[in-house]
Amino acid sequence: MILEDLKWRYATKKYDRTRKVAQKDIDKIVEAARLTPTSSGLQQFRVIVISNEQLKKKIVPIAMGQEIVAECSHLLVFAAWDKYTEERIDSIFDYITDQRGLPKGRFKSYTDKLKALYLPQSAEENFVHTARQAYIALGLALTQAAELKIDSTPMEGFDSQQLDELLGLADKGLKSVILLPLGYRDQQGDWLAPMKKVRNPKEDFILEYN
Ligand SMILES: Cc1cc2nc3c(=O)[nH]c(=O)nc-3n(C[C@H](O)[C@H](O)[C@H](O)COP(=O)(O)O)c2cc1C
Repeated sequence: MILEDLKWRYATKKYDRTRKVAQKDIDKIVEAARLTPTSSGLQQFRVIVISNEQLKKKIVPIAMGQEIVAECSHLLVFAAWDKYTEERIDSIFDYITDQRGLPKGRFKSYTDKLKALYLPQSAEENFVHTARQAYIALGLALTQAAELKIDSTPMEGFDSQQLDELLGLADKGLKSVILLPLGYRDQQGDWLAPMKKVRNPKEDFILEYN
């Protein structure tokens, strides 16, 4: 039950360093991110999976000293295209037509519209849009993790420029957007573990137009 999983999960503040997530479960979580719907199907982001202990430790000072990036079993970094390019738009549509056995250029009128929309924008404007797609993936990944009873922490608290440098993302035309440590909660050590989940009351949250 997805709703039960969402009630179970919380933004874990302390992980059990001794417990590692099995590779098959990491694969499922990353697969949920890969299956994310994206604007125009452009799949404008990538997921970096970090299990290397040294590298995770190096990210702690970049992440405002948040130890969870080192304590966790695996750290996912969601990184989005730094900008749209003609090549990127063509490349994904060529791949789609090829995979579907359609003639190359089948979607040309559509890709022309996308190019006319995105290419005149600044790289910053492009990135606002590409980064949004990564957030959809974040939601699906943390939901899949919860379904597997794997803890996670969505994290915006880090210096994206420093992380991009550390991971060499500029060379790949990517910029980091959000982090997702994965692992198992330290039930005794995590102050947030026993706390009630609090959300706005439904009558405040839902605006019904009947
Ligand atoms: C986009 C985003 C960024 C967040 N950044 C951090 C962070 O840097 N560090 C942290 O401990 N929690 C972070 N959180 C966790 C939120 O504080 C938490 O999700 C929120 O308080 C709701 O609580 P719950 O997730 O435990 O239900 C972030 C959550 C989101 C969605």
